[in-house]
Amino acid sequence: MRRTIARALTGPLAAPLALVAAAALVPLAQPAPASADSVVIGGRPVRSVDSPWVVAVSSRDRFGGMRAGQFCGGVVVAPTKVLTAAHCLSREVLGAPPEQVRDLHVIAGREQLLGSGGQEIPVQDAKVAPTYDPRTNSADLAVLTLSKALPASHVIRTASQGDTAYRTGAAAEVYGWGDTTGAGTYAYALRAAPVQVLADDVCARAYPGGVGGRYEPSTMLCAGDEKGGHDACQGDSGGPLVAGGRLIGLVSWGSGCGRADSPGVYTRVSAVLRSMGDRL
Ligand code: ARG
Repeated sequence: MRRTIARALTGPLAAPLALVAAAALVPLAQPAPASADSVVIGGRPVRSVDSPWVVAVSSRDRFGGMRAGQFCGGVVVAPTKVLTAAHCLSREVLGAPPEQVRDLHVIAGREQLLGSGGQEIPVQDAKVAPTYDPRTNSADLAVLTLSKALPASHVIRTASQGDTAYRTGAAAEVYGWGDTTGAGTYAYALRAAPVQVLADDVCARAYPGGVGGRYEPSTMLCAGDEKGGHDACQGDSGGPLVAGGRLIGLVSWGSGCGRADSPGVYTRVSAVLRSMGDRL
């Protein structure tokens, strides 16, 4: 089992997508993941007006214009604040520290990456959670400060610790422009897939440590489909997991995509924000 953190869309200067796809390939001995109309894996197209808090995190300078520079997802939690995954800002992904990426920006209000809707807003500042551990991917969260405020209508409320939205079995949705098949089929339009909050035990068993990674319940959240077929995938990282209209997680890592035995692992947003003193 190979853990795939930050494997998608890694590599500076528009790494050829073929290479990216190869890097994202799941080992062959697995059940074929999801069908062609999946997303994220097993999802459907959604409109930006219905989920205005989802943004693309993008740099044409680093990733080229083929996907408008999109390389991760993000979520608007205040008019000038976007949460994304800390690993999205790693050197492994960007090829440079974020402050050296001159055109780092978010695309808000646009579902079609190559369309002209919505707006592109430069990132003024990027702050990685102080407790982020790139080795274990614990506390995989970063706060982007935008150079211009979005309308309040873009903001989603974050669930606080103990919110029922975190309960095992809660229905949730994950959003993104990532791989829809697990074989490097990146979406051009925003998609969402239904998943369930799963018990910590499920991920603890799936990810006991070693090459597959270790699940850490205090900073991570387990979600997916115990039958397989609905999941986030490469390129979705940093994007939102939403339950009951509240933000509960950010796409972080997993083994393969959409596999029954390997759920998605998300950043437990409430816990990591709290460790930052709830200061955005
Ligand atoms: N690390 C991936 C990214 O950078 C996200 C992987 C999520 N995988 C999963 N099976 N849920 O885009």
